[in-house]
Amino acid sequence: MELEALELQLLLEGVYRQYGFDFREYAPASLKRRVWRRVQAEHLTTISGLLEKVLHDPTCMERLLLDLSINVTSMFRDPSFYVAFRNKVVPLLRTYPFTRIWVAGCSTGEEVYSLAILLTEEDLYARTRVYATDINEVVLDQARGGVFPLDRMRDYTDNYIRSGGSRPFSEYYLAKYEGALFDRELTRNVVWAQHNLVQDRAFQEFNVILCRNVMIYFDRPLQNRVHELFHASLERFGILCLGHKESIRFTEFADCYEELDPQEKLYRRVK
Ligand SMILES: C[S@@+](CC[C@H](N)C(=O)[O-])C[C@H]1O[C@@H](n2cnc3c(N)ncnc32)[C@H](O)[C@@H]1O
Repeated sequence: MELEALELQLLLEGVYRQYGFDFREYAPASLKRRVWRRVQAEHLTTISGLLEKVLHDPTCMERLLLDLSINVTSMFRDPSFYVAFRNKVVPLLRTYPFTRIWVAGCSTGEEVYSLAILLTEEDLYARTRVYATDINEVVLDQARGGVFPLDRMRDYTDNYIRSGGSRPFSEYYLAKYEGALFDRELTRNVVWAQHNLVQDRAFQEFNVILCRNVMIYFDRPLQNRVHELFHASLERFGILCLGHKESIRFTEFADCYEELDPQEKLYRRVK
């Protein structure tokens, strides 16, 4: 085995054994890039050096976790997804007296606030509970706070309009200094919790699961395991929403779903 690959394997094994975070089945190319970035930022020269530091210094582990968990997100990301959600999922939700939605890998929460805005506008929020989870406590704390950079609001307003929103977007937040503080009502029915898709089990049965731009970082066997978890967590005829670059097609669960909107990666569990 190439030395770099061996060092990476040892680092991931050490992180798992010491801290319980299992990145061993994440796609190696992007992992390697991120690990090297952390090696340099810590003024080290090798991945083995990083392993030593991480094992002896939990704050270094926190920094590495932020690098490995890749938290980029935005409000109404891929507006066409939200258009499809309004047109194809909302009518189904209207037929339920109560809806449980799981946003898995919610990062700093922008996706959850976007969904809450959409559901509020469709008069569905009052009868919805959203479970928003992520592996990373640091981002969950930011999500709970509901403050997002003010300089992103112009882009978010644009995304919101393109996603089918019809109110002035600024109704949803209060501009304060550098931050936009979002309306607390939007998270009244949100439960934030740490959950690791690789290691933790199903915890509820849901009508809808959103897991967008998370599994793109997982290798194929790990994707299959997470799909097993989603299949077990989704009621029959429940909806699974994946990211634009993701698909159910090449997984072991492809036959269990029908395509509700193949372009927007909306699937309905049929088996
Ligand atoms: C790129 S963000 C996607 C955020 C949001 N879903 C979106 O589409 O904008 C990926 C998120 O997945 C989370 N994540 C990575 N591995 C995870 C795991 N094993 N369990 C739960 N969340 C995980 C990361 O912490 C990160 O916040």
